[in-house]
Formats: sequence, C-alpha cells, structure tokens
Amino acid sequence: MRIPLIAGNWKMNKTIGEARAFARELHSLLPDHTAVQMLVCPPFTMLYELHGLLAEAGIQLGAQDLFWEDNGPYTGEISAAMLIDTGCSHVIIGHSERRQVIGETDAAVNKKLTAACRVGIIPILCIGETLEERKAGQAEKIVSKQMDLALQGLALEQGEKLVIAYEPIWAIGTGINASGQDAQQMSRFIRQLLVNKYGPAIAGSVRVLYGGSVKEDNIEEFMQQEDIDGALIGGASLNAASYANIVRLV
Ligand code: 13P
Repeated sequence: MRIPLIAGNWKMNKTIGEARAFARELHSLLPDHTAVQMLVCPPFTMLYELHGLLAEAGIQLGAQDLFWEDNGPYTGEISAAMLIDTGCSHVIIGHSERRQVIGETDAAVNKKLTAACRVGIIPILCIGETLEERKAGQAEKIVSKQMDLALQGLALEQGEKLVIAYEPIWAIGTGINASGQDAQQMSRFIRQLLVNKYGPAIAGSVRVLYGGSVKEDNIEEFMQQEDIDGALIGGASLNAASYANIVRLV
C-alpha cells in the first residue's frame, strides 16, 4: 500500500513572515484526519523556522536541493546532515529548473541522491522530458536515461526511502498539464525501470508523483491512475487554501 504524498515545492518564493502565515492558515484549513502524507518544501531560509509550525499541522518538511559532501570548504552549499538538523525528512533533487537554469548534470544528481540516501533523508528525484523530446517520441528514452544515471550505484533496501517525481518540463508552470493517461503511462514505465533495477517488492513501494500544473481542477484525474501516488505541486502549493483543497480531494 502506497500512501499518497502531496508535496509542495515553493521554489524561490515567500518571506519567513509569509511562510509562517501559510503554516497557520493551512493548519486551520486541514481536515482533522487525512490518509494523505503532506510535505512542504520551502527555501532554505525558512526551513528551521517552519519545522515546528508544520509539524503541529501534521506536515513534513523538505528542502529543494543539497550538496553531496558532509561539510568542508564548499562556500554557499548545504549538506544533507544540515537539512536533517533543520527538521527535514525529504529533499528534492534534480528539479528541471536546476538542470536547465543552473546547469546541474546527471552526474551531480547522482552524487546528491547518493548523499541523501547515505545520510537518511528521503530524496524526491525529478525527471522529465522537454516538449521537443516528447514530440520526437523520445520521452521514455530520456526518462530512462535520467533514471539510469541518477540511480547508478545506488543500493535501495526499502522502496519507501525513494520518491520519483515525473515532471514533464513543458507542463511546469505553463498551466498545460499532462493528461492523466499520459502521466500514468510514464509512471508505469518508471515503475518498470524500478522493477528491473530493484525487483518488484522494492519497486512496488516507491512513490511515483506527477508534477506540472497540478491544481484543484485536475488532481483527481491523476490520483485515479494506478501508478501515480501523489503530486509535486509548484504554483498551487503557495496558497494555503488551494493546497488544503488538493489534500481534501485526494
Ligand atoms: P507547477 O505546479 O507550478 O507547474 O510546478 C511544478 C513543479 O515544478 C513542482 O516541482
């Protein structure tokens, strides 16, 4: 049984004051009992501050990136242990914005993923194709290559310790989401890659999320799909009311 995971990726948004207000509002809006695992990934500057407030509302904390070394002369970087120290349980790795804007390579993604698993923070590995790649019929080939390079040398003893987010780049922040059927097809493909690498038991407990213009109007379509176990949400996770509604709909 894979418990649905609804993760918010705030990207580079909000001040500490706004984040606090979000956490308080969300707490008041959420149902008392929910079978959904909730996670919010704010910028580094808000992690420590938000940890307690989110925990009170039953929401876990995640970061948006990390560096693969534990400590040392790496100006500007943040390690997995430092994230755990702020209260993080999860970390997003290899988001397409980091790959495309910052120039993060598959090799760097692999090192980050390995460091996260070694230290015990759960990575949310982001993968997905561009519109050109999809139009050229290359989507599965691209996703397969990204998975292969990211997971190289990574031993996984429990599927619960890894989350994969399928985020087609053309669907991110565009308002144009993938269809439930297309997202399911790719999620099934991703799960098969995991079966090949880790066997059916472990692959069956890895959560595969869909990300890209998820909102209240379309979350149900994704959650009806067999291999989609939740969502990684950008824009719609910035508003407490819409995040709470999405959780309710799940
Ligand atoms: P949007 O939900 O704003 O399209 O962003 C998706 C995303 O990039 C989540 O990581």
